[in-house]
Amino acid sequence: MRHFLTPMDFSVEEWEELLDLAEDIKKDPKKYAHVAEGKKLATMFYEPSTRTRLSFEAAMLNLGGHVIGFASADSSSAAKGESVSDTIRVISCYADIAAIRHPKEGAALVAAQKSSIPVINAGDGGHQHPTQTLTDLFTIRSLKGRLGNLTIGLCGDLKFGRTVHSLINALTRYDNVRFVLISPEALRLPGYIRTEVLDKKGAEYKEVTDLDSVMPELDILYMTRIQRERFFNEEEYIRLKDSYILDAKKMKLAREDMLVLHPLPRVNEIATEVDDDPRACYFKQAQYGVYARMGLIMTLLGLEAPKC
Ligand code: NCD
Repeated sequence: MRHFLTPMDFSVEEWEELLDLAEDIKKDPKKYAHVAEGKKLATMFYEPSTRTRLSFEAAMLNLGGHVIGFASADSSSAAKGESVSDTIRVISCYADIAAIRHPKEGAALVAAQKSSIPVINAGDGGHQHPTQTLTDLFTIRSLKGRLGNLTIGLCGDLKFGRTVHSLINALTRYDNVRFVLISPEALRLPGYIRTEVLDKKGAEYKEVTDLDSVMPELDILYMTRIQRERFFNEEEYIRLKDSYILDAKKMKLAREDMLVLHPLPRVNEIATEVDDDPRACYFKQAQYGVYARMGLIMTLLGLEAPKC
């Protein structure tokens, strides 16, 4: 039985297969409408979510399966003090696969150790968010036609932003990807990702605080929200929250074919005027997340694609 806890749980070849499957699903979703009939997905969300939870649910329903679950810790037995380990043991009796989001780093791993069904990490604290990465890679591959030979700017909260951590893990496995890490000093990428991932893989990267000056270099600009809920101090959040605001003026500095991605939700970091720019792809990215998650559910449950 396989779990999906970090992007490294799949080899590059498996990633390619999964992205090919998502591509086929995108082309002809109806073909997959009965693939997961009789199967149940449990969504265990201890933290707020719109896209991740609902795109998982939509993905399972699109495959003809069913969904059970809870959307907040308050509405589950966690409110009575039940541990994640006990909850997953019980959910293993009710469902065939589970997606878990939790504010604590490592919670999905703890669940996987006690689970008898595949566990998907739908975000564990400020650590990893591999299914957002699946969405991001699928979006980049679909819109750029490649995952290598790219300069990607990651901008905003690189310290607490789990989507950035997972995306860096995944993209360092492709050739000739250059990273431009744009953040305030206080929200730099954690040292362990610089040394254990970027340096170890020999990836080319630079850290800067100014967005404008690097705009012309980028093939992709991946904007992120300042992660308010992970700050220890509200004053520090208020000081940093508007560090970067992408607006139409800044977009003028970018290449004609640069893509703007964002895992969403957005707060202030992208002005709504940018939404009409053809290079703004974040809503399309949210749509692609459904196809990617359909592919992931099929892969983890060992469900075959229909022949025709
Ligand atoms: C992200 C997350 O939860 O980490 N959202 C998402 O899943 N699409 C990013 C964020 O909350 O800022």
